[in-house]
Parts: sequence; C-alpha cells; structure tokens
Amino acid sequence: MNNYTDILFEISRSGRTAYSLPKRDVPTISLEEKFSKVHLREEAAKLPEISELQLMRHYTALSNKNFGIENGFYPLGSCTMKYNPKINEDVARYRGFTNIHPLQTTRTLQGALRLMYELQEDLKVVSGMDAISLQPAAGAQGEWAGLMIIKAYHEKNEDLKTRRKILVPDSAHGTNPASAVIAGFDVVEIPSNEDGTVDLAALKQAVGEDTAGLMLTNPNTLGIFEKDILEMADIIHGVGGLLYYDGANLNAIMGITTPGAMGFDIVHLNLHKSFSTPHGGGGPGSGPVGVKAYLEPYLPIPRIEKTGNGFELNSNYPLSIGRVKGYFGNFGVNVRAYTYIRTMGARGLRKASESAVLHANYLRKRLEPYYDSPYKQVSKHEFVLSGNRQKKLGVRTVDIAKRLLDFGYYAPTIYFPLIVEECLMIEPTETESKETLDEFADAMIQIAKEVEDTPELVTGAPHHTSVKRLDEVTAARKPIVRFE
Ligand SMILES: Cc1ncc(COP(=O)(O)O)c(C=O)c1O
Repeated sequence: MNNYTDILFEISRSGRTAYSLPKRDVPTISLEEKFSKVHLREEAAKLPEISELQLMRHYTALSNKNFGIENGFYPLGSCTMKYNPKINEDVARYRGFTNIHPLQTTRTLQGALRLMYELQEDLKVVSGMDAISLQPAAGAQGEWAGLMIIKAYHEKNEDLKTRRKILVPDSAHGTNPASAVIAGFDVVEIPSNEDGTVDLAALKQAVGEDTAGLMLTNPNTLGIFEKDILEMADIIHGVGGLLYYDGANLNAIMGITTPGAMGFDIVHLNLHKSFSTPHGGGGPGSGPVGVKAYLEPYLPIPRIEKTGNGFELNSNYPLSIGRVKGYFGNFGVNVRAYTYIRTMGARGLRKASESAVLHANYLRKRLEPYYDSPYKQVSKHEFVLSGNRQKKLGVRTVDIAKRLLDFGYYAPTIYFPLIVEECLMIEPTETESKETLDEFADAMIQIAKEVEDTPELVTGAPHHTSVKRLDEVTAARKPIVRFE
C-alpha cells in the first residue's frame, strides 16, 4: 500500500525539498539590526521536507479521492453543479487581474472597475433590475443584504416598527428564513398547495399592515414555476410590502423572463451557480444584490460609477445599508461570471436555460414509472421524486443515494424540500449529454429493481467507495479536526 495520502509531516525526511529559490539579487540584511523589537525564533519552523514528486503524488492522490463535476455527473438539486468552462479560469488568472490590490488608486484599477461595471450592466438585463451591487460574497449574504434594504426602506417610511413580518413559503431554501431572522424580522411560513406552488388563499390571509415583504424563488425549490406570481406581487404590493427574489434558481429562466418582469423589487443572484463559476466545497461565491430604481439609494457602498474619465467609486449614498463585504466582493468569481456571460451571449444564456429545463423533464419522464413523482406538471431546471414506494419495502431514500455512489455518481439532494416525504431532488443541468442522462436513468432504474429483488444490496451501500457509511451525526457533533 503506498503512503501518498499520509499526512505530509509523516512522509517528511530531513533534507528533501520540493522547490528551489532563485539566486538572491538583493543585499542581505539582519532583521535584528533593522527592527529593534523583532523576536527571532530560536529554531527553524518544523515544516515538512518532501521532494517535488512526493508532493505531486500526495496532492494528486487527494484530488483523486474528491468528487467534482469533472469526475462525473453531479445532479445535486438546488446547487446547479454545471460545468465551469476553462476559459473562465484562464481569464481569472490574467496577471492584470491577479496582481492588483483593491487599495490601489482607482486610476490604476480601471480595467477591473470596468469589468465589474459591465458585469453589473449585464446582470441588470438578466435580472430585470435597475441597479446591482456585486459586493455580497454568497447567496445567503445577498439575501441578508436584500433584507437589510427592505428594512432600511421601511425605516425611511417610518413604518418599520409595525412591518416586522417576512413571509416565506414552506418550500423555501433554509437560508431564506435564516437570513430574515438575522436581519431582525419575524418569519411567517406560507403553505404550498397540492400543485407545489404557494397557496394563494393562505397568502392573502397572512398579509397585512405588518408585512415587510415576501421572499420567493421562481421556479421554486420543487422546480415548479409559480404561475400566480403577478397576482402574488399585487397582493404584497397592495399592503405596502416588498417582493424579494431568491435568484439561486435563475438557471431555469435566463434570457426567457426576469424577476423584474415578475414584479420583484429586490433580487440576489448566485454567480457561482447560474453563471458557471466553481461551486461547492464552501466557496468562494458571489451573491450580487439587485434592486428596482426606487431602492437604488439603499444598495451597499461603494458603488462603481462611470464618469467622463473612466470609472470611480462613490460612497456618497447616505441611505445605503453600508459596506457588507471587504473591498468589492469576490472579484475572481466576478471575472469568471463576466467571461461566461460574454462567451455565451444573450442567445447562449437562453439556450442554456432551455436545455436545463429539457434535461430535467426528460429525466423525470424516464424515472416516473419507477419512483413516486408528487408533481406532474412540467418541471423547470430541476424536479423532485419521492422514495415512498421504496420505503414501503424497507429501503430509504438515503440508501438509494448511497447506492448511486457505487455507480460513480454524486447523489442528488435528499430530504429537501422538507414538504416532500423521502425526497430526491434532481438537477441535471444543461451541460450534460443525453448519454449521461440515460446512463444515470438506467442506474436509478436498476436501483429501483434492486429494491424489489435484493434490497440488502441497497441498504448496505456503498460497496465500492474507499469509506463506507460514516456516522454523520458524530462527525458533526464531535468533529476530529486536529492531527494528533
Ligand atoms: C434556492 C437557494 N437559495 C439560496 C441559496 C444560498 O446560496 P449560497 O449557498 O451561495 O449561500 C441556495 C444555495 O444553494 C439555494 O439553492
């Protein structure tokens, strides 16, 4: 057995190096002489000493243990794990972008400011909003920034004291109610009807003078388009509330419709999903927040503005909710999203959404005879199935997900949205081929047959991974994060 994945300190042997420094071409100085208060360490830092080849093998072995979109199909519902074209990476690595610092004078940052300004302009078109800030670092932070804008708006109108409630459908992503609570609002859950969309009667009953706003994603997390969205917008606006759009599901509607056209006042977008920049593993992300013109004064500062001489930063917005992230947000993610939008063009973005929707419906139709399908209408970019039929035979959705690992797939999202029992949430994305969709469908069908014939094969899965089932609760409650 090789030791490639052993910890670097374990394979360290004195005298081995994986690098060599260039010949020094500046005079030597003594730190002690130069800085009177400097405290020098008495012995060398205990860093691992390894050869370049060992280092390569170590990291290659670790990366081979990882699963990413470049290893295989990754139908993780609600996460839009689509392929990130490599040209995005090339552009993000341009030295002109990697060697700048946000504290340089704006005169020396004109290229970066222009890119961010133009990205904002593009996102205005895609979202139907009038102004965008790229600052938030992820979807959840974009949500929070949007809610702080709702708060600042009601405060300006002097009715924040009464407007305490944010309405959130029961199918919402968990970050929605969490962001509302962190922003200081009370959350009111609105039930879904049997079509999987917001129950309008319940919405009408819940709204009132105390409504600050409604948070919604459309298509919703079941992959279903809220067809009553215009009526919902009227209901919310009718009582003086604002409509917040969770743009994480924009992959279904790019170039086809916009949250602006649906009546939303504020959106956040997940650049690290819809616009193909890497997603997963905890970031980095980018969750720009966009607003209709009347809310522009509340956006985070500084704003990037075009002047006669180029691009400038302007912090002179007294109603702004302030800065929400250091500097300008995650600039590298913005560069990737900009490259994606410019290489796709308007028609390409629309085609991407159309293909994402087609793929989801194709896969759903192939799987419907074998798994319960709670919602029969056309799906958008993702769909949900239920493992209820399999549960009656003693096999749970988690078992099906684990068995899929044996086929070399990442498992779909499971047990979310919470309103679907034994839920499997599948998002194939537009970047997969028909062959891949068919192979995945074949695997899912085979698993459904195994549940009937050899259920222990499924409940004992995975069989071919380097680790089997982990105790997830203990891992979360008592994580071992230190090497002893
Ligand atoms: C519908 C929805 N809303 C919000 C979020 C939160 O985005 P982020 O993970 O970037 O914070 C997600 C993330 O997947 C999502 O699917």
